[in-house]
Amino acid sequence: MARVVLHERNRPYVVKAGDKELHLCACGLSENKPYCDGHHMKTVDEDKTKTYVYDHDGNRIEIQSFYDNPKE
Ligand code: FES
Repeated sequence: MARVVLHERNRPYVVKAGDKELHLCACGLSENKPYCDGHHMKTVDEDKTKTYVYDHDGNRIEIQSFYDNPKE
């Protein structure tokens, strides 16, 4: 069964681990998960009222969100 995961955050979570600071991906686009690799910069100009997917080449594609009219 396929799953759809929506990511609304467009910047990493910063977590302290001892004397280290870790940047954890929250946008879902990192190619080095769980760590941020900067790919979230592709999302900074997204229209927050729309839903997008990104293909493997990083191209943004607007989709019709099926969460706009949730079924009961
Ligand atoms: S938060 Fe996902 S790549 Fe930076």
